[in-house]
Amino acid sequence: MTTASNFDEFERVVARRGVRSGLPVIVAVHSSALGQAIGGCRLAPYPDWRDGLTDALRLSAAMTAKCAVAGLPHGGAKTVVALPPGTTLDTGLRRAVLHDVGDTIESLGGDYATGPDVGTGPDDMAVIGERTDHVFCRPVGAGGSGDSSGPTAEGVLAALAALAPVAGRRFAIMGLGRVGAHVARELAASGAELVVNDVDDSRRQLAAELGATWTDDILTAEADVLVPAALGGVLTAATVARLRCAEICGPANNQLDRPATADLLHERGILWAPDFVVSAGGVIHATGVELRGETEAEATARVRGIAGTLTRALDSARRRGITPLAAAHELARARIDSARQATMAA
Ligand code: PHE
Repeated sequence: MTTASNFDEFERVVARRGVRSGLPVIVAVHSSALGQAIGGCRLAPYPDWRDGLTDALRLSAAMTAKCAVAGLPHGGAKTVVALPPGTTLDTGLRRAVLHDVGDTIESLGGDYATGPDVGTGPDDMAVIGERTDHVFCRPVGAGGSGDSSGPTAEGVLAALAALAPVAGRRFAIMGLGRVGAHVARELAASGAELVVNDVDDSRRQLAAELGATWTDDILTAEADVLVPAALGGVLTAATVARLRCAEICGPANNQLDRPATADLLHERGILWAPDFVVSAGGVIHATGVELRGETEAEATARVRGIAGTLTRALDSARRRGITPLAAAHELARARIDSARQATMAA
């Protein structure tokens, strides 16, 4: 029997041309076996809208695993607005497409709620919120829990500390965006040694401030831990062969180009902390505060729980000689399957 915990099956995929913006809006709902499906709204250029669709499918499946492993009563989904290359979003077009996104989400009747992701932030969530209530992380003043990058970074820091005490360790941080910069600052303050890079050259200033070494080839930097904090797909057969780190642990979604790359890392003796375990801080915090009435302190404590979840997955992998990916997926599947059995029994 196949079930929704097979990560290659999807409950619903909606792709439509936004009536206001004319831009392709894609929503993939991977699973709602554990509850309302959640996942951010990505606004990014793609060579073709079909590439955006492929990305939405993969990202939504990762959200299912992320929520399940984190013990959240949520399934996984994702929105991708696939911008044709060269599109510039002026204020008017940006509002138009965010309203298109809001209408699309509203049409799903609450089965799915969105949040910020690559290319969007709290102010965009407020605009989506003009069309639907099913949106997380609006600014605090607009009734939301605000920017999720702080809690996501807290979760990453908890995961990194679970690997080993960070003082004196050398971290190669790929990407100094909102999450990466926060992680870099905290690590520097804790006495870690940093090598960093960002596609945006102006981030060199932050690197200098933190006493970090800037390098053009961050992937092959010699380090105890590589921290992918930019776009996904960076770990491939070709890049894994060139890595010079002992461990990989960071918040970028979908770091592996395909699941089999986890085996290559394993063979090279490089420990890979599954991205969907490490990056759950944002969703843990936003859903806790906005849906379950958790205080800031309670939500933060749950975000720090990522350390325990990661330790469990890595211990299980080590004990049984399987990859951390396999162990974490198993954890996710077990949660989903037991929820399904409970539903069927009811
Ligand atoms: N970008 C977030 C993630 O990948 C998505 C999100 C954050 C969704 C907060 C809801 C609330 O996990």
